[in-house]
Amino acid sequence: MRRIDDMGAFLAAAALWVISLIHLVSGELYSSNVGGLRRSGCNLFQGSWVFDHSSVPLYNTSNCPIIDKKYDCQLNGRPDNSYLKYRWKPNACDLTRFDGQDFLRRFKGKKILFVGDSLTLNQWESLICMLHSAVPHANYTLVRKNGITTFALPDYEVSVMMNRNEFLVDLVTEKIGRVLKLDSIKGGDAWKGYDMLIFNTWHWWHHTGTLQSWDYMEEGNKTYKDMDRLIAFEKGLTTWSKWVDSNVDPTKTRVFFQGISPTHFNGSEWNEPTENCQGQTEPVSGSTYLGVLPPPVAVVKKVLSNMLKPADLLDVTTLSQLRKDGHPSVYGVDGKKGNDCSHWCLAGVPDTWNNLLYASIVLTRDGGK
Ligand SMILES: *[C@@H]1O[C@H](CO)[C@@H](O)[C@H](O)[C@H]1NC(C)=O
Ligand SMILES: *[C@@H]1O[C@H](CO)[C@@H](O)[C@H](O)[C@H]1NC(C)=O
Ligand SMILES: *[C@@H]1O[C@H](CO)[C@@H](O)[C@H](O)[C@H]1NC(C)=O
Ligand SMILES: *[C@@H]1O[C@H](CO)[C@@H](O)[C@H](O)[C@H]1NC(C)=O
Repeated sequence: MRRIDDMGAFLAAAALWVISLIHLVSGELYSSNVGGLRRSGCNLFQGSWVFDHSSVPLYNTSNCPIIDKKYDCQLNGRPDNSYLKYRWKPNACDLTRFDGQDFLRRFKGKKILFVGDSLTLNQWESLICMLHSAVPHANYTLVRKNGITTFALPDYEVSVMMNRNEFLVDLVTEKIGRVLKLDSIKGGDAWKGYDMLIFNTWHWWHHTGTLQSWDYMEEGNKTYKDMDRLIAFEKGLTTWSKWVDSNVDPTKTRVFFQGISPTHFNGSEWNEPTENCQGQTEPVSGSTYLGVLPPPVAVVKKVLSNMLKPADLLDVTTLSQLRKDGHPSVYGVDGKKGNDCSHWCLAGVPDTWNNLLYASIVLTRDGGK
């Protein structure tokens, strides 16, 4: 019985290997864009968090070239630190360890742009800390110009940029007020000419009340006072997907979509009476989370799977759901007044997102050369 299982697994792995080879040989793009980037049947995004005594973060935030106070939990007095000692372990393989020097070699002469909201900022700052710590003595520059912040390592000819853009589609102030244009993406002009693009949007789509940053939504000639937010999100994301389809040359630019980042404001999702993430010091054990996937995840998968030019999903939602301990909570920027169960401490979970980004580049296609 055992032997038959092994044979089955071997054949499945061999079949996948042949398929990947066909993709490489025919110059086709990696097609499993929302099914989880894989090698030999290993889905990098399915696994569990393993406590590792010897594990230390790749960086000390006090040495990072840029770090928002709201993410710097140790500086803000977070007393526990075991949340820094969990390693992501995919079920069927080991995660290739992040190697900053190798990353810089692969991206020599290249420009990487992150586009999105404060969760994007979270991941962008994490990557800068990770890269800087790999070459701590190298000169770097940090420049802000026309809404794009550029971290560059001139000796390595690598730039990692961030364009803050909460919706991806355009938000324009007009006579009637702030109008969110679901079918307009003029902001995309700023995203051309990069070697790798990592997009993200969602959290601002469901804001209401004083947090809501638009007064009207508009599509074609129609103006709306409000709309089902998931429908609006799908319309906006579809506009983005069409932008990628008509503006990105996949032989020059690799596109990722940073998966929906989950929040922890409901303890029943992890079977505890707590109301939120405050006081959490350990991840959920195992691979499954009691709470459901946030509804926008299905929208993201649907839109991505209908694209002509592939955008790979960095499918971090479930693995981040398991990390109820990873948020700043009361060790964010507002201290006890705020209770941030939405962003992530740095060092922390976004380091793993970047490790997965790195592993995806190393494992698939041309290795990001
Ligand atoms: C990080 O660096 C600061 C300043 O050098 C130091 O005080 C602190 O102990 C370091 N933290 C860790 C975890 O090493
Ligand atoms: C960093 O820049 C300074 C000034 O331009 C230069 O003197 C120094 O040699 C550089 N260091 C490295 C490691 O390249
Ligand atoms: C907008 O309205 C004008 C005039 O009523 C019409 O000609 C045009 O086709 C409409 N555009 C769209 C996108 O519906
Ligand atoms: C909290 O999560 C539980 C279980 O997933 C769900 O039934 C409940 O509706 C949620 N409560 C709120 C306020 O969202």
